[in-house]
Amino acid sequence: MTIAWDSATREWHLANEQASYAMRVLENGWLGHLHWGAALRPGASLRHLGPADFPGFTNRVGEPVALEVPVPGGGDLRIPCLVVGSPDGATVLDLRYEGHRILAGKPELPGLPSTYVERDEDAETLEVDVRDASTGLFVVVRTTLFADRPVVARSLTLHNEGDTVLTVRCAMSAALDLPDARWQLVTLSGQWARERHVHERPLVPGVQGVGSVRGASGHEHNPFLALRRADTTEDRGEALGVSLVYSANFLAEAEVEPFGTARVRIGINPDGFAWQLEPGSEFTTPEAILAWSDTGLGGLSEAFHDLFRERLARGRWRDRVRPIVLNNWEATYFDFDHDRLVEIATKAGELGVELFVLDDGWFGRRDRDDSSLGDWVVDRRKLPGGLEALVRDVKALGLAFGLWIEPEMVSPDSDLYRAHPDWAIGVPGRPRTESRQQLVLDMARPEVVDHLTAMLAAVLGSAPIDYVKWDMNRNITEPWTPSLPADRQGEFHHRYMLGVYELYRRLTSRFPDILFESCAGGGGRFDAGMLAFAPQGWTSDDTDGVERTRIQWGTSLAYPLSSMAAHVSAVPNHQTGRITPLFFRAAVAMFGAFGYELDPMAMTMAEQRDVAGQVAWYLPRRELIQRGRFIRLRSPFAGDGNETAWMVASRDAVQAIVGHYRTLARPGPVRDRLRLRGLDPAATYRITCWTDGFGEPTGTVERAGDELMAVGLGIEPPDPLPAGAGPDGVRMIRGDFQARMFELVRI
Ligand code: DGJ
Repeated sequence: MTIAWDSATREWHLANEQASYAMRVLENGWLGHLHWGAALRPGASLRHLGPADFPGFTNRVGEPVALEVPVPGGGDLRIPCLVVGSPDGATVLDLRYEGHRILAGKPELPGLPSTYVERDEDAETLEVDVRDASTGLFVVVRTTLFADRPVVARSLTLHNEGDTVLTVRCAMSAALDLPDARWQLVTLSGQWARERHVHERPLVPGVQGVGSVRGASGHEHNPFLALRRADTTEDRGEALGVSLVYSANFLAEAEVEPFGTARVRIGINPDGFAWQLEPGSEFTTPEAILAWSDTGLGGLSEAFHDLFRERLARGRWRDRVRPIVLNNWEATYFDFDHDRLVEIATKAGELGVELFVLDDGWFGRRDRDDSSLGDWVVDRRKLPGGLEALVRDVKALGLAFGLWIEPEMVSPDSDLYRAHPDWAIGVPGRPRTESRQQLVLDMARPEVVDHLTAMLAAVLGSAPIDYVKWDMNRNITEPWTPSLPADRQGEFHHRYMLGVYELYRRLTSRFPDILFESCAGGGGRFDAGMLAFAPQGWTSDDTDGVERTRIQWGTSLAYPLSSMAAHVSAVPNHQTGRITPLFFRAAVAMFGAFGYELDPMAMTMAEQRDVAGQVAWYLPRRELIQRGRFIRLRSPFAGDGNETAWMVASRDAVQAIVGHYRTLARPGPVRDRLRLRGLDPAATYRITCWTDGFGEPTGTVERAGDELMAVGLGIEPPDPLPAGAGPDGVRMIRGDFQARMFELVRI
């Protein structure tokens, strides 16, 4: 890995063996972009990839000159990266190069989550200084290249070195100019209970993309986008992706202009945003992560997975496998007491579950969702011995204990609201819009963050709690805070988010042994910002096995399996009403941080035996599943969406697990093989198959790695064929909602 500066051509080339990023100082002093993508040989000038010379846009206004920090007003007429208003109301900037530094390692971003390195050799950072002489705006353009990853991180820090207040109207984290627009745009979109479905369309002239103005990244769109070539597949071809390490209002979009080039930008959503930059103050954007792959979307995902798992997640849980959880939410909702919970935990423990989670309803007088948020005091009607007694009894069973909280919220019917009605977000003189009968606390106010720190630290310190599920069940309306003057209300959403991050920082550092899981009504804030504090998130409230194939597939485009909490719930499913076999539900949920979300007391003896079998099967394989290479094989978004297949392979190709799922039965005998990836072509694998339970497998066969990848693994008839199977057609996949799980071990 090197960052080379050629003072003669005024070019930088950031290169490792996997990718190159190049830029140069243009003749007018602006920062020009030259290249992001394939690793190019260092040493040779790349300046011909940009304009031959560029003294400015005079007589060439609107030309698609590739820029690092495009700004309005100077002849670049595309979507900008930075818009800053000066006191005269103008937004013209002329950001000229002043100098640069090449630093070992990677600096932290103040107040913001970001990726990091543990050793200086793991990354190099280029900080380029540019200045607008008229306003005194001084910008540090920070680009980090990681040593062994096809990834760069980009952020900007704006300093007001002038003597008048500047208004930052748009501060995107990254803009990326691409030499052509022949890409498919891939975004992750949906809604509550169907988060992060894959949506694809070719780039067309104009602006297209996704964003949020909800105060959270949202269920609807994810702060991520990918571009792939039309012929890029999961394992071949070029793809690039951008992800924002941020959890509030975002924008991720691409613009195609008439010359046929494309610009991608990602950052805080400028809609409603305005930041007053006082003289002497600074503003740092969230970090954008840019990844590139020439091994398809799979290679792109792997770059994000490895980075997010190893150098975004942090703390003691970063490298640990996740405990198998049983959560009481769908078992009891608000209707429980100490004995009922201990009864559930006892059964869960008998089945092999490792951690019991007490969800919503343990505090205040919360018998429904209409009260008590903010009153983080145990409800002694339900738990007469308090959390202490419950945690003691659960731990006596050999289980760890987890607790649900929703720190950012307040119920109008709560002691907290009665004491501090002004702490709930709202505009004086206007009604506040309730959602799920709750209001949102003003996390932009330091006293609110201080109060929550004290209250929640008292709760988490009151008993040996091992896990916290941090929920956030509504979006923000009537954004306004009394902590800012009228002309600074455009800072509200970002300051809210900084307050949330600060609370996370305080609680995670005061309780370093606790495993935090983020949640927002399921996956409504499942993003890279949250992953910096909570190494896993509740992927979706929708635990229906069929829906989960789509949700987990889409989520996996950017996020690793270790970050995706995935539970088996009861049928009929509480979100869809669908009835699927227990084996199918488990076979899907096992590709994640596995657990249960049901009442084990309500299960038949046979189901309990099945669950015990699932737990026993998963435990010795979870290290592989949560830390191996996740490889997508058959997309539930392709064709009629009836099939999904994916696998996890160990990095040394010694072991792999394959999951295949068919939603609706397909009549008539067919032949079907599934081409695997990530194996050793020269090795032979022993293959074991499970088709309706995790007890006795259907049988074992041996197959060559090259054959499994080039010809495929038998799905129909299955390889191995179950004992006692008759001639072809006798043991085809029968019935709806069928799963097959295969284990491959190199012999
Ligand atoms: C929404 C979460 O996604 C659920 O899992 C559960 O914790 C409820 N909130 C509790 O109110």
